[in-house]
Amino acid sequence: MKVFAGNSNRLLAEAICNYLNLPLGKATVRRFADQEIFVEIQENVRGEDVFIVQSTSFPTNDHLMELLIMIDAIRRSSARRITAVIPYFGYARQDRKAGPRTPISAKLVANLITEAGADRVLTLDLHAGQIQGFFDIPTDNLYAVPILARDVKEHYNLENVMVVSPDVGGVVRARALAKRLDCQLAIVDKRRERAGESEVMNVIGDVTGKDCLLIDDIVDSGGTLCNAAEALLKNGATSVTAYITHGVLSGGAVARVTSSKLKELVITDTIQPTTAVQSAHNIRVISTSSLIGEAINRTSQEESVSSLFD
Ligand code: R5P
Repeated sequence: MKVFAGNSNRLLAEAICNYLNLPLGKATVRRFADQEIFVEIQENVRGEDVFIVQSTSFPTNDHLMELLIMIDAIRRSSARRITAVIPYFGYARQDRKAGPRTPISAKLVANLITEAGADRVLTLDLHAGQIQGFFDIPTDNLYAVPILARDVKEHYNLENVMVVSPDVGGVVRARALAKRLDCQLAIVDKRRERAGESEVMNVIGDVTGKDCLLIDDIVDSGGTLCNAAEALLKNGATSVTAYITHGVLSGGAVARVTSSKLKELVITDTIQPTTAVQSAHNIRVISTSSLIGEAINRTSQEESVSSLFD
């Protein structure tokens, strides 16, 4: 087995290799003067079971192109099998036609990865589970919930915890955490009663005196999260913490989170944290390296991956 990485998240790739007790494969991924990407695999991969770790995070298109070119280089070097390990799968929110004459870009990206030569995909907390079906190659979608649940148990008195979905679309994800923690579940229902009027946040469930844990797959602008936190505090919650798998945190999101009433935002390292994220007083990053490392190990040994979540 060999593990290589693009430039999107070398820290995570190194931590995964640490877990697997393997050196990170030697490869250079660089730019020509005109910004074309060039990849050179600097060790033999003939007949090997190869894993390429690359999140398609910001700058999304560059990181996606790096992944495609790495797959191509490794395929042409006669690897036995190539698994694209994509801890954060960008473009996932474009998973259906949102209006007339719009693309389904998640499907296009799945086609590109398959066409480049990947034999399998390993990813984590896909925005929508059905994206698995966009790939015509085996695709394992891991869940961060066991890691999040472990962290909650270390930091909270579960008797006073209420798990909250920040919108109706995230209920299944939130329910999975609530079930693992044996806690109650509440939902923030965002509604615009009339066109032109601002959205009203209704909280379904009694959060009075509770330590609320908002759970979601992505924090991007931070709007969903900060608005939900305000609504929960207005409804009598004692504190609000957010557990989110992918810290996209674009634009002014870090500033929005640091100036919000959130006690803490806990994200994972599927997207490499920026220095702003690392120095934010109320953002903490927990690692997915052992989960992804173990999934890689099991894939390579042809063992069950789903039993990681039993
Ligand atoms: C939406 O369906 C996702 O699950 C997230 O709630 C959303 O992407 C968060 O975006 P933002 O932080 O920009 O509100």
